[in-house]
Order: sequence, then structure tokens, then C-alpha cells
Amino acid sequence: MRKVILAANWKMYKTIKEGIDYIKCLEPKIDNFPEVVLFPPFTAIAELSKVIRSSNISLGAQNMYFETKGAYTGEISPIMIKDAGARYVLIGHSERRNIFKEEDELINKKMISAIKNGLIPIFCIGETLQERNSMETEKVLKKQIEIGLRDVAEESEFIIAYEPVWAIGTGINATPEQIREAHAFIRDFITYFYSKNKSENIPILYGGSVKTDNINKIAEVEDVDGGLVGGASLDCESFYEIWNRIKVVKRSKR
Ligand code: PGA
Repeated sequence: MRKVILAANWKMYKTIKEGIDYIKCLEPKIDNFPEVVLFPPFTAIAELSKVIRSSNISLGAQNMYFETKGAYTGEISPIMIKDAGARYVLIGHSERRNIFKEEDELINKKMISAIKNGLIPIFCIGETLQERNSMETEKVLKKQIEIGLRDVAEESEFIIAYEPVWAIGTGINATPEQIREAHAFIRDFITYFYSKNKSENIPILYGGSVKTDNINKIAEVEDVDGGLVGGASLDCESFYEIWNRIKVVKRSKR
């Protein structure tokens, strides 16, 4: 049985106090299914780790550098992230790829380093609108996996998030059919790249304009093992509602 995970990517939002208030709102409402992972800004991780009381909420960082220490002004290492109290890290988010020009090779180094240093990466992949329109979606996903997961051992724990770039922060979400196709392609490619066992066990999350009013249909898709939510995760009540809907849909399928 694959894990079901709901992740909140707060991006560059929330001060420490706002983060603490959010946890006070969310924590009493949830249990451990689906698992919740919050990705606050770096500055809030250590303080938030002190206020979380249960194991139902884990923390993650939105990015990291692949070296563990050194003269890399402005960067944060996997060891520092763990030290602050996080267990997860987002690697290759489309905003990192597009705004900060992170290439597949760099993302690969980050994947290897995150795992080596004891973090669980959420490896983000997805095509742009132009790539989708030129029927290149599968080619792009294949390349992102082939380079991004090069030398990443099958036994290592990581999660994949399919996030079509054109659906992130735009309010346009992929249709359940588009999501079903992409997730099935990714899972098949993981069978080829690793093994049937790996592809059956790896959680694949969907991200891109997930909201309370579309999560039911998305969660119905068999290969979707949860969500990575940006905008709609900023409000505790709406994030809780998304969590609750995933719970109902996925529980009915177990
Ligand atoms: P969104 O962001 O839900 O605001 O589209 C998703 C993400 O960036 O992970």
C-alpha cells in the first residue's frame, strides 16, 4: 500500500508567527492519513519544529544546495536543513527550474546529496505549455527523470511530484484525464528505469492549482498518491478541507 501525502508549499510566504498560528490551527484537526508535510521558508523551519507536537506533521525545505558546507554565499546545506528539524526537501520545483535556471544536472546533484544526507526529496517534474502543445510532454518527463535520477539508488526513499508548469499558480488545473495519462506514464517509466517493485511503491503526487473544489476528481485518479499544494495551502482551513477530501476518497479505495 503506497503512502498518501499532502504537502503544502508555502513558497515565499509567512513569517515565523504566521507559521506558528497555522500549525496551531491545523494540528488539532488532522491525524496521520494522509501524512502532512509543510514546506515553510527556511527562516521558519527551526521555530516551527519546536511547536509541532504530533508526528502527523513533518517539515521540509523548499530547496537546498548539494554541498554540505563551504564558501557558497546565500545557500543552505542538507545538514543545516536536518539540523533545523526538517525531514523532507523539494528538489527541482518548476520555479527553481524556470526563474533560477536550475538544470537537470544540478537537480541530479541535489537529489543525490539530499538522500546521502538523510533527507527525503520530493522530486518535481513537469512540462511547460509550449512543450505540451508540441506533444513533447512524455519526452520532457522522460528526460527529467533520466537525468534527475541518474545514480539515485532504487532503495533510496524519495517521492515524485508531477507538476505541469502551465498549471502552477495559474488557476488552470490539468484535467483528471491529463493527470491520469501523465501519472501512468511516469509510473511506467519508473518500472523501466528501476523495477516494477519501485514503481508500485513510489508515491506520485499531483501539483498545480489544487483547490478544495477540484481535489475530489484529482484524488479519484488511481495513480495520484496525494498533492503538492501552493496557493490553497496558505490558508489553514482550505488546506484542511483538501486534506479531508483526499482522506475520504483514498480511504474508500483501500
Ligand atoms: P499552486 O502551486 O498550487 O499555487 O499552483 C503548486 C506548487 O507550486 O507546488
